[in-house]
Amino acid sequence: MLNKTAKSHSLFSMFMFLLVLNFSLSQVDELKLLLSFKSSINDPSGFLSNWNPPTPLCLWHGISCNNFSRVKVIDLAEKNISGTISSSVFHLSKMDTINLSKNKLSGEISSELISSSSLRYLNLSHNYLTGVISNCSILLEILDLEDNMFSGKIPPQIGVCSNLKVLNLGGNYLVGRIPSSISNIRSLQILILAANDLIGQIPCALSKMKTLKRIHLGYNNLSGEIPQELVDIVSLNYLDLAFNNLSGQIPTSLGNLSNLQYLYLFNNKLTGLLPRSISGLKKLIELDLSQNYLFGEIPELISELQSLEILHLFSNDFTGKIPNSLASLPRLQVVSFLSNSLTGEIPSSICNISSIEVLDLADNYLSGIIPPCLGNFSKYLTILDLQMNSFHGTILEMFGEDCRLRNLNFNDNKLQGSLPRSLANCRNLVMMDIGGNKLNGTFPYWLETLPELQVLVLRSNKLRGVLQSYKTIHPFPKLRILDLANNEFTGPLPKGIIKNMKAIMNLSEQQSSLQYMHDRYYTYNLSLTVKGFYIELPLLTTFTSMDLSNNNFHGEIPNVIGKLSSLRGLNLSHNSLNGHIPMSMGNLTSLEWLDLSSNKLTGQIPDQLKDMTFLAFLNLSYNQLTGPIPQGKQFSTFENGSYKGNLALCDFPLSKSCNNNGRKQSSPSFLKEADDSETKISFGWKVVLTGYGCGLIVGVIIGYVTFRNGEPKWFVTLYGVKYHRKGRRCSRN
Ligand SMILES: *[C@@H]1O[C@H](CO)[C@@H](O)[C@H](O)[C@H]1NC(C)=O
Ligand SMILES: *[C@@H]1O[C@H](CO)[C@@H](O)[C@H](O)[C@H]1NC(C)=O
Ligand SMILES: *[C@@H]1O[C@H](CO)[C@@H](O)[C@H](O)[C@H]1NC(C)=O
Ligand SMILES: *[C@@H]1O[C@H](CO)[C@@H](O)[C@H](O)[C@H]1NC(C)=O
Ligand SMILES: *[C@@H]1O[C@H](CO)[C@@H](O)[C@H](O)[C@H]1NC(C)=O
Ligand SMILES: *[C@@H]1O[C@H](CO)[C@@H](O)[C@H](O)[C@H]1NC(C)=O
Ligand SMILES: *[C@@H]1O[C@H](CO)[C@@H](O)[C@H](O)[C@H]1NC(C)=O
Ligand SMILES: *[C@@H]1O[C@H](CO)[C@@H](O)[C@H](O)[C@H]1NC(C)=O
Ligand SMILES: *[C@@H]1O[C@H](CO)[C@@H](O)[C@H](O)[C@H]1NC(C)=O
Ligand SMILES: *[C@@H]1O[C@H](CO)[C@@H](O)[C@H](O)[C@H]1NC(C)=O
Ligand SMILES: *[C@@H]1O[C@H](CO)[C@@H](O)[C@H](O)[C@H]1NC(C)=O
Ligand SMILES: *[C@@H]1O[C@H](CO)[C@@H](O)[C@H](O)[C@H]1NC(C)=O
Repeated sequence: MLNKTAKSHSLFSMFMFLLVLNFSLSQVDELKLLLSFKSSINDPSGFLSNWNPPTPLCLWHGISCNNFSRVKVIDLAEKNISGTISSSVFHLSKMDTINLSKNKLSGEISSELISSSSLRYLNLSHNYLTGVISNCSILLEILDLEDNMFSGKIPPQIGVCSNLKVLNLGGNYLVGRIPSSISNIRSLQILILAANDLIGQIPCALSKMKTLKRIHLGYNNLSGEIPQELVDIVSLNYLDLAFNNLSGQIPTSLGNLSNLQYLYLFNNKLTGLLPRSISGLKKLIELDLSQNYLFGEIPELISELQSLEILHLFSNDFTGKIPNSLASLPRLQVVSFLSNSLTGEIPSSICNISSIEVLDLADNYLSGIIPPCLGNFSKYLTILDLQMNSFHGTILEMFGEDCRLRNLNFNDNKLQGSLPRSLANCRNLVMMDIGGNKLNGTFPYWLETLPELQVLVLRSNKLRGVLQSYKTIHPFPKLRILDLANNEFTGPLPKGIIKNMKAIMNLSEQQSSLQYMHDRYYTYNLSLTVKGFYIELPLLTTFTSMDLSNNNFHGEIPNVIGKLSSLRGLNLSHNSLNGHIPMSMGNLTSLEWLDLSSNKLTGQIPDQLKDMTFLAFLNLSYNQLTGPIPQGKQFSTFENGSYKGNLALCDFPLSKSCNNNGRKQSSPSFLKEADDSETKISFGWKVVLTGYGCGLIVGVIIGYVTFRNGEPKWFVTLYGVKYHRKGRRCSRN
């Protein structure tokens, strides 16, 4: 009670103080409203610490006033504040600008309040705000609510906001159709409704909005055809309709949008030819039509897109040759024709594009030799992906001193001869995959000095000889995936290499943070044998494995293998390894699959292997192992097949008991269901294996890959890799 009177007394003297200073009553109101706003906000970094009456209001952090000392602007963007936005702030009658973007504000926002205020600029983007949008104020010019949790439909009243220049409702949970009344906003320049759950057709009425420069409707569920009328928006610069359910053809009229710089139509159901009119888009910088059903030839007229930098046509059904005229595009940086049906040779004119960074021609029917000029034609080239074609001949000594390649992928072609030593010039190589060819010669030990190499795949070739490290003290310092399966290597296992694979020792255990390896316009994929299946998957930055199977390695498995404590998969099967399974293998505590089958291993299975608590696949069959099978932990999940063809193993799951008294031990049947590897594999990747026969979809990968730089954070791609599109990937291995 006493306290209360004291408080009201001090409040009273404050009022007096303000009156003495000749503040108007409305300024006192403003002070109260702002303090009320502050009281519902948490401010851990103390940005609002000077929001106290003694400090003149106009000097409060984040506040700006007009010439008459009335609050005009609140800018608390990126101040790490949380809590709720008190409605009081919308009652400030001279308020012009509110910027609370990039904070952690939550709670419901009433759009009635917003509409009754004097605001011209309202930016609440990147918070956790909820509410429905029901009304709008005619004064509002900028409304940015991107990346919040607003729900409900976009109301037809949106058309009332006739002064809006920017309307950004992207990255929320809006449903329903886009109201055609939106076209009443005649001054709108930027319309962003991307990444919601909108359905229905793109309203033709949009074409009445002649001032529009940017339309972002991607990542919704819009259907129907792309309206031809969009051509009327002459000033259109950016058109994003990607990741919807749009069908029909690309309207020829789009070619008349002569100011268009960015056109994204990827991941829809568009069909038909690439209209020749596209050559009218003289200012186009990025063209992404990937993941549709477009067919026919890529027109030579594409050469008229003289500003083009990014050309993504992957995962369509384009046929015919790679257009020669690409060569005359002076700014081209990225060309991805991956997964089409292109034929013929790579035109050597392609080497005229000296600005190119990414050249991805994988999974087509291309043939001929790999033009040697590809090795040094562009000093920017970082990705050269030619896998799954029919290139033949030898890889020439084509890699120049200034080779900047990060990924070289020639997997699954018909290349012959030995690997060129000039590859050692490519000091930035992170991944090299030349598996599935007919290479002969010896192991390219001259690559062991490459400082960045993480992935080396030479599987399924005819490489021979002994694997040994030569001069280098620390060979392959960053290697974490080594696949030499199906070759003709002999001699002992490469101890010198194994004991230096630092990247597979104590990898930081942040493996729950799934990060896919990707460059600016390219996601790294890799085919490898996982738990007995050969599959293709996007590559995680933390993934590790070693596959030396199907060679002629002999001798013992070296003890040092136990050092590879972050190894996920190890396959040494189908060699001539002898001796015991080293006890140190128990130290491979990250191992998820282990295949030592079809060797000449003897002795007992070390009990230490029980420490491999993530092991989901074990194959020790066809060796000469004896004695009891370790019991408990993971070992209770493996079935007979893991052990068959050995000399004298006994105990569960085998029917033979080690007591040797002929008494059959009944195996607990509930454990038998465990080997479910056919329906599910999971090793940190969210992978669901739905089938593995020819022509079936092998895997659905859910990977949130930030698709391109500079896009908002919700602009992520559900990266659906198309497997077995042409049923061509199933005959390997
Ligand atoms: C505010 O004052 C500045 C100069 O102090 C003047 O240029 C400006 O026009 C004034 N603005 C208004 C709205 O009166
Ligand atoms: C709002 O804050 C963001 C981030 O600081 C800034 O980019 C933007 O220009 C601000 N807008 C206004 C009108 O102050
Ligand atoms: C943001 O606030 C949280 C507490 O709410 C604090 O842990 C974090 O360090 C703050 N971050 C910055 C950049 O101030
Ligand atoms: C809103 O704020 C964000 C930063 O948080 C900024 O990137 C964006 O440009 C602002 N929106 C508008 C329309 O000014
Ligand atoms: C929307 O707000 C305006 C005032 O800005 C008001 O006149 C109108 O009645 C409101 N409409 C609805 C449906 O709330
Ligand atoms: C798209 O809308 C259809 C119904 O029109 C619905 O069945 C489907 O789940 C929606 N898809 C997505 C990805 O929202
Ligand atoms: C996509 O559009 C087609 C018609 O082109 C329709 O049959 C189908 O239901 C739509 N799918 C979704 C998910 O909306
Ligand atoms: C596109 O431009 C051509 C020539 O510039 C013109 O003949 C044609 O009518 C235009 N098409 C549309 C749909 O505007
Ligand atoms: C490639 O460049 C050379 C020299 O710059 C030029 O002579 C040739 O015509 C170009 N080829 C093509 C197809 O543009
Ligand atoms: C590429 O290498 C070839 C042969 O080594 C050489 O003749 C040619 O001049 C090089 N081209 C460039 C652009 O460096
Ligand atoms: C390697 O392959 C090439 C091309 O097929 C052949 O000429 C050469 O004799 C082969 N070398 C060996 C050692 O087999
Ligand atoms: C395996 O781990 C144990 C204890 O963690 C250690 O003593 C032993 O040296 C390790 N063996 C190898 C080969 O790394």
